[in-house]
Amino acid sequence: MHVLLIGSGGREHALAVKLKQSPLLTRLSCAPGNAGIAAVAEIAPLDPADHAAVIAFCRREDVGLVVVGPEAPLVAGLVDDLAAAGIAAFGPSKAAAQLEGSKGYTKDLCAEADIPTAAYGRFTTQADAEAYVRAKGAPIVVKADGLAAGKGVVVAETLDEALAAVAACFEGAFGAAGAEVVVEEMLRGEEASFFALSDGETAIPLAAAQDHKRAFDGDTGPNTGGMGAYSPAPIVDEAMAEQIMVEIIHPTVAAMKRRGTPFKGVLFAGLMITAEGPKLIEYNARFGDPETEVVLPRMQSDLLALLLASVEGRLAGTTARFSDETALTVVMAAKGYPGPYAKGSVIENLDAAEALGATVYHAGTAHADGRLVATGGRVLAVTALGSSVRDAQSRAYAAVDAIHWPDGFCRRDIGWRAAAREG
Ligand code: AMP
Ligand code: GLY
Repeated sequence: MHVLLIGSGGREHALAVKLKQSPLLTRLSCAPGNAGIAAVAEIAPLDPADHAAVIAFCRREDVGLVVVGPEAPLVAGLVDDLAAAGIAAFGPSKAAAQLEGSKGYTKDLCAEADIPTAAYGRFTTQADAEAYVRAKGAPIVVKADGLAAGKGVVVAETLDEALAAVAACFEGAFGAAGAEVVVEEMLRGEEASFFALSDGETAIPLAAAQDHKRAFDGDTGPNTGGMGAYSPAPIVDEAMAEQIMVEIIHPTVAAMKRRGTPFKGVLFAGLMITAEGPKLIEYNARFGDPETEVVLPRMQSDLLALLLASVEGRLAGTTARFSDETALTVVMAAKGYPGPYAKGSVIENLDAAEALGATVYHAGTAHADGRLVATGGRVLAVTALGSSVRDAQSRAYAAVDAIHWPDGFCRRDIGWRAAAREG
């Protein structure tokens, strides 16, 4: 089967490497891709936002499955347009991607299906949101409703901070994403990411991971897309995984089906593991980045077969197998990220890192004049497998240290909490 992968990040590089291992795969294309993906897939000269061009490519090149990595094309309805053209595509429809596209939508679904989550209110006027914030008091969490690239959330410790966040949303700090605001109770506990695969009817667990969202060591500095991750998440043992499936994932899949918008694809639950059990913070309708760079290296099942089972409604009775090893990834980002950063700096010695047994997933790279250069904020995800978090951590950092990139930086403490648990 010829598979077309959509995306250009470390997530898509990890998806490409795993898809490549499938005996069902005969050809792999990717758009827009990056320099790392170009080593495992053909780069298709396509703009994924041009749905007609994607459809024409699939027809011309006999593509049997399109795998959509990022959220933007899902929310833009790429899967719907492909399906209408008779082309199989992995990922949710535009309507089902609302689980990620609108926080208010997901909160209402939780209320309807009795899914544990923070108490909340939805507001379309500043006065109503302010009144709710004043009534509830701080600490409290203020969120722009729509997609705001991870920046639309303020965990406010004081009332003033909360009111300022409400004002910023309604004054247009997040554009259309802030026209509606969700205000919710602050949850305390440890965060974890849980991945499940659904075919609209049945969901099966994949794996759990934990990431580090802050830019700097000690979980300080501004929020980013993620500076590193590890899987499994020690806090999500087998019993916790079962509880998450029963209390959160299965009710979500059932409620989406009842609404007439069955969810097919990856359900990525952002969870707070509280003293009262797991609570849903948010859903993403896709694989995580950099979580995919630690989940897929542990996967022992055929990824392509699982994705096809999701598309074709055949997940019942299947399972996804994972090794017990720990995978840990360290993100190398351009200096300045998540603020302004320069593009085009030269990266060297990836071979030396891979010779140490690590896998270097490319997140934002290109070739220029025969050299590898950085083209994004997050640029590389350096992943190693190990027998423990500490083992995976020391292998990943040995590989990071072999890479020569003076214009990049990384955190030196990825996995600290899980490593401390190992004693
Ligand atoms: P979100 O974009 O909804 O995932 O929020 C981004 C981050 O804000 C989460 O990963 C949490 O660290 C934090 N957060 C969001 N909602 C809450 C909440 N209700 N209580 C505590 N922290 C939260
Ligand atoms: N790492 C978080 C995300 O993929 O949204």
